[in-house]
Amino acid sequence: MTAAPPPVAVSSRRPALGFIGGGVMAEALIGAVTGACLVAPGAILVGEVSEERRRVLRERHGVGVTKDNLAAAGAELVVLAVKPQHLGSVLKQLRGRLREDTIVVSIVAGARLRTLCEGLGHGLVVRAMPNTPARVRKAATFWRASADLSVPALGRVRSLLGALGTEVEVDDEAGVEMATGLAGPMPAFVYLFIEAFIDAGVALGLSREQATLATVESMRGSLELLLRTQESPAALRAQVTSPGGATLAGLKVFESEGVREMVDAAVRAVHARAQELGQLALASREPGKDG
Ligand SMILES: NC(=O)c1ccc[n+]([C@@H]2O[C@H](COP(=O)([O-])OP(=O)(O)OC[C@H]3O[C@@H](n4cnc5c(N)ncnc54)[C@H](OP(=O)(O)O)[C@@H]3O)[C@@H](O)[C@H]2O)c1
Repeated sequence: MTAAPPPVAVSSRRPALGFIGGGVMAEALIGAVTGACLVAPGAILVGEVSEERRRVLRERHGVGVTKDNLAAAGAELVVLAVKPQHLGSVLKQLRGRLREDTIVVSIVAGARLRTLCEGLGHGLVVRAMPNTPARVRKAATFWRASADLSVPALGRVRSLLGALGTEVEVDDEAGVEMATGLAGPMPAFVYLFIEAFIDAGVALGLSREQATLATVESMRGSLELLLRTQESPAALRAQVTSPGGATLAGLKVFESEGVREMVDAAVRAVHARAQELGQLALASREPGKDG
């Protein structure tokens, strides 16, 4: 049996940043904001139901942890980072219990600003959609605030989300919903392609290590080229595609197999599912696990 980790001293002062839910995304955000020195670990308090996750977050990041969501919700800025199906019970638990000046940032897929404001009985709410590259401060986060946020409050949100990578404030909440179909799942889409290319390289006869290197370094190089030259993806693709050449033979397979239609259908499916999950959040009223 391993010895219990030493308790982290949580300041009796109001935490600067609170989390409700301490899973994958909360950990990515914690790593990013502490890595950017935006918030000290001791000024972060995470409300999390799982004892194991509380231990992991305390050991890895030195943040304060609690099973009492209301304590974490006492922070100046509170991030809602539970799965959509747990949002209903969290909203119920926090309703009317937030301080008037608390800024709430929800990253819950599908949960609308109106749902969040009404559910919490609170006006200062932001809906944001980051993605897991936040772990290395390379997220693309689209966000929209409720009308009640002041200019300084918007500035605080911008610096929090900016610490995760690139942040984009959109004019309309629909923009966040559309980004949910694209930016949120993009790491999973990219990794699926990487896995498939590595497997194809291995099937051709490369070692897994060589196939991984050929795939990942070529992807990295292609992205760097795109970002640095600012030429269009189509123009850069044309530069690799000589008439009758080998690349064209591969591209023809993608086109004839309907890769564009497949991508379009996948993005639409994510968008639709996120909206369904938002509805599920409204319907969920399970008590039990919180607190
Ligand atoms: N993962 C992504 O790439 C991504 C990207 C953008 C946005 N999001 C959004 O981010 C949110 C969190 O996703 P995630 O991947 O971080 O999920 P996750 O890893 O499952 O983290 C959620 C954590 O919250 C805990 N929890 C459940 N109910 C709770 C409650 N009432 N109070 C406090 N903690 C509670 C869960 O514990 P148990 O596991 O024991 O239930 C879990 O540890 C989701 O709404 C998702 O839509 C995710």
